[in-house]
Amino acid sequence: MHYQLNLKQTTLLLFSIVFLQNTFAQDQPVKSPDSLYHNGMVVCATPDASKVGLEILKKGGNAVDAAVAVQFALAVTHPEAGNIGGGGFMVYRSAKGKTNTLDFREKAPAAASANMYLDSAGNVIPDMSILTHQASGIPGSVDGMVKAYRKYGKLKWEELVQPAIDMAHTGFKISKRLAGDLNWGSGQFKKLNPGKTYLLKDSVWKEGDLLVQEDLAKTLELIRDKGRKGFYKGKVADELVEEMKSGQGIITKKDLKKYHSVWRKAITGKYKGYKIITMPPPSSGGIALLQLLNSVENYPLHRWGYNQDSTVQLIVEAERRVYADRSKYLGDPDFYKVPVDSLLKPAYIEDRMKNFSWDAATPSSTIQPGSFAGYESDQTTHYSIIDREGNSVAITTTLNGSFGSKIFVAGAGFLLNNEMDDFSSKPGVPNMFGLIGGKANSIQPGKRMLSSMTPTIIEKDGKLFMVVGTPGGSTIITSVFQTILNVIEFDQDMQQAVSSKRFHHQWLPDQVNIEKGAFDDITIEKLQQKGYKIISGGASGRVDAILVTKDGYYQGGADPRGDDSKMGW
Ligand code: GLY
Repeated sequence: MHYQLNLKQTTLLLFSIVFLQNTFAQDQPVKSPDSLYHNGMVVCATPDASKVGLEILKKGGNAVDAAVAVQFALAVTHPEAGNIGGGGFMVYRSAKGKTNTLDFREKAPAAASANMYLDSAGNVIPDMSILTHQASGIPGSVDGMVKAYRKYGKLKWEELVQPAIDMAHTGFKISKRLAGDLNWGSGQFKKLNPGKTYLLKDSVWKEGDLLVQEDLAKTLELIRDKGRKGFYKGKVADELVEEMKSGQGIITKKDLKKYHSVWRKAITGKYKGYKIITMPPPSSGGIALLQLLNSVENYPLHRWGYNQDSTVQLIVEAERRVYADRSKYLGDPDFYKVPVDSLLKPAYIEDRMKNFSWDAATPSSTIQPGSFAGYESDQTTHYSIIDREGNSVAITTTLNGSFGSKIFVAGAGFLLNNEMDDFSSKPGVPNMFGLIGGKANSIQPGKRMLSSMTPTIIEKDGKLFMVVGTPGGSTIITSVFQTILNVIEFDQDMQQAVSSKRFHHQWLPDQVNIEKGAFDDITIEKLQQKGYKIISGGASGRVDAILVTKDGYYQGGADPRGDDSKMGW
C-alpha cells in the first residue's frame, strides 16, 4: 500500500493532529490579563504544573529548578505531551545575559536504518513510524533534566521531583480537556496495549475524575533517588526493553546507557533592535524563525497592521520559502553539515524574497529550496519561566503525537514517544505534519530527528525582553514568529499576543491554514483573488510566554486554546 499523502489527507492530518484540541477553554485559569509580577513567573500547559513551578520559585529555587519540577509535573498532569518518555530542548539565559541551550532530543536506536519504515516495494508502511514500538526514539527528557540541574540547579534534586510523585501517587482532578483527550485516546490505548489498564477507565472519563498513576509514581521515585540511573538503568530500563521486545521495538539497554543530552551554543540573530536567542539544529525552529523575521524585517508591518492582507501575504511568502529550505538543509548537525551561516546570510534571505509578486501568490510548485555558493531541511508542550534574579528558561518538550505512540511501558507507567516520525522515512513523502525531507533528515543510528520546536528568549538593549515557545508540530515556528510580531510590530501585550488568532503556511501543501475568524471576509477575498488557498480550521499551537515590561515586571501570556496557566508572585 502506498503511503503518499495527498493534499486532502495531509490537510486532515494537520487539523486532526496539530489542531486536535480546537476549542477554546471556557474556564481557562487566566484570571487577570493585567497581572504583573516581580519575583518570578511560570507559564505552562496545566495549572497544577504551574503551581508546582511557582512553589519552587517561592522556595528560592531558580528558573532551572522550577523547569525541572515543571517537566516532571507535566509528565503527570499533561500525559498528552508532558513526558519522561520523550525529549525536548531548553534555551537558557542567565540574569547576567549568558546563554546556553540543551538538546535532550531523542535519538534513533542503534538498530535503526534509513529504510526501516519501507516495505519490500520501497513504500512507506502506514503508521509504522507513528503507532508501533518501532516509532520510538531513545528518550532524552530525564537525562536532559539531570544535566540541566547539575549545571544550574540550586535546590535539592529530590525536592524538584517530589511534587510530581505526590500528584501521581494521590492523583489529581482532570480537566474537561484531559477527560476528552483520554476518551479520544482510549481506543488506541486498548488496541496497542493489550491487557494494560494505564490511563483507561471502565466508563468514560469526566471532568473532575481523579487520575492516579501509581506505576508512574514509582518510576519517578527511582528518578528522584537515583537520577539518570533511575531511568536509563535498573528496573525502568529493564521494563522499557521488555516492552520493546513485546512489540518488535528496537531500543536496547545499550541504547539507553549510551544516551546523552548535549549542550549546544544558542543561535542568535537580530530583528530590528531585538536580539533573538534560539535553538540550533537538530531543531529547524531557530533557523527558520530567524529566516522568517529577517525576511519581513524591512517591510512596514506596523503600518499595515495585524492580519491585514499585505501583512498576511508577506508572511505567507516568507514561510513558503523558509519551509522549502527546511525540507532540504536541516537535520542533526552531528550527522549532517547544516549550512547555518548560509541560510542566515542577509543577502541570501533578501534574494529569496525578491521573486514574489504582490499581484499573485507564488505557487509552491515554483519554489525550490534555495541554493548558495559552496554548498552542495500534536502534541508537544512548552513552558516559560523567569525567576526572581531574572534567569530565564524556555523549554519545549514532546512525545510527538498526542500521547506519543500511545504505547505504555508496562509496569513503569509512562508513554513512549513516536518521534521517529520526525525523520524523513522516504525523500519527498510527508510525515504526519505534512513535512517532507531528504538526506539531511534521513534515519541513521544514533541520529536525532529534525524538530520544529522553537524555544526562544529575546533581549532588548541587553536586557531580558521575552521568553516564548509553543507546541504544534510544523506550526510551532509560525506561531512563535507571529507571537513575536504581535508584540514588537502590533503593540499587543503578552496575553493578547498569545491569544490572537494565527495562520500558517509550510510550502507544501500550498495552502494557508487559518484559525477560524483569523481574517475578516474582505482580507480573505483579497487573498483568494491573488490565488491563495485559505483553509479555515481549529486552534493552532498553545503559546506560553512571558514579557518583561519597561518597568521590569513579568507579564504572562497563557494560551486560552488549552488549559494553560500563568502564575507569578
Ligand atoms: N515532534 C514535533 C517536533 O519536534 O517538531
